[in-house]
Amino acid sequence: VNTEPLILGIESSCDETAAAVVRGGGELLSSVVASQIPTHTLYGGVVPELASREHLRNIVPVVRGAIEKAGLRYADLDAIAVTRGPGLAGALLVGVSFAKTFAWALGKPLIGVNHIEGHIHAVLLEAARNGGAALEFPVLALVVSGGHTHLYLAERRENLWSYREVGHTRDDAAGEAFDKTAKMLGLSYPGGPVIDRLARFGNPRAVPFTFSNLKHADRNHRELGKLGPRFDFSYSGIKTAVLRHIEVQEMRESIERRRAFLMTHPKPTDGEWQSICDAHTLDLIASFQFSMVRDLGNRAFAAASEFGVRTLLVSGGVAANSALRESFEERGRRSHCRILFPSRPLSTDNAAMIASAACSKWLTQDFAGLELSGEANLALR
Ligand code: KG4
Ligand code: ZN
Repeated sequence: VNTEPLILGIESSCDETAAAVVRGGGELLSSVVASQIPTHTLYGGVVPELASREHLRNIVPVVRGAIEKAGLRYADLDAIAVTRGPGLAGALLVGVSFAKTFAWALGKPLIGVNHIEGHIHAVLLEAARNGGAALEFPVLALVVSGGHTHLYLAERRENLWSYREVGHTRDDAAGEAFDKTAKMLGLSYPGGPVIDRLARFGNPRAVPFTFSNLKHADRNHRELGKLGPRFDFSYSGIKTAVLRHIEVQEMRESIERRRAFLMTHPKPTDGEWQSICDAHTLDLIASFQFSMVRDLGNRAFAAASEFGVRTLLVSGGVAANSALRESFEERGRRSHCRILFPSRPLSTDNAAMIASAACSKWLTQDFAGLELSGEANLALR
């Protein structure tokens, strides 16, 4: 087999339509992402029906753009890779149907990729682009996005990757907590980037948020616990704590004023943000982010210590957070664990990570048939 295959990746699991071309898993030739943020902003969250419609509208120009930017013709491609799950069923359907048709029409092999495995491979793609030193095992991967908060021990035998889940969120994903908190505070959508931007103007120690200790707390997980220690997360509590804070501190009025301002000024400057967020609000934002970052770190580094981890891969939209990057790097230095992140554009949803993850499947000729379908709840193993 050609060890440097040209793979077109296609991603449509949530609210970005993306296509990219990667050579040999590590050389990024093009990456096009059509964001649907303006479509969903009005609703403060992703509306599945609108997402599917936007994917349908975007997929052809996005794929064409990726091929053109890579300076290729369709016939040059070795394989077509597509996200088969997890994600929104209708959104996945658009990418999968398009990829199947495209692969069939071009007579190229089709590769189905797990979206979460894609996020993990975004880190490896980034490392390869930066010269790619050999990975030191054991490797732990933390995937933190709007839909997922997962910890996996990742193994590689020959070219085959396998994953053992050692923790996941029992309720909300970390990105969901950022988005919901932002929404409650009348900030814009998606919440993560705004909170990241505003947190530096507040006091991170102003509001003490606490997280429950989840070690084998329920029966189901006691069973799982037999397979080894668990490092689960829970982020629905902090949302309730923020809401309670809003009520007790009577912040409603200022939140409504902020919402109204943002209706007419969708892209405020730093100065405008500070004039529509009082010190109290900025403190709450900074404290929320500080607590989230600390809790994600506590659980990830507890797992890293338990398994003697040498490399921690951190990916997904929340891995774009600047406080998280700083804190993880600092904790990594202290615990002699190498921390690898993707660049910010490769942290959030993209298709380069899908094309990159597909490379190991190409090397083992692990191709999908035309019966491939989207799977909303696909697990990673
Ligand atoms: O990976 P992603 O693009 O999509 C999913 O697979 O979910 O992640 C999107 C999530 C959103 O919840 C968004 O608020 C969050 O990532 N996010 C951030 C930042 N940038 C994006 N969260 C915190 N800080 C950021 N800078
Ligand atoms: Zn994602």
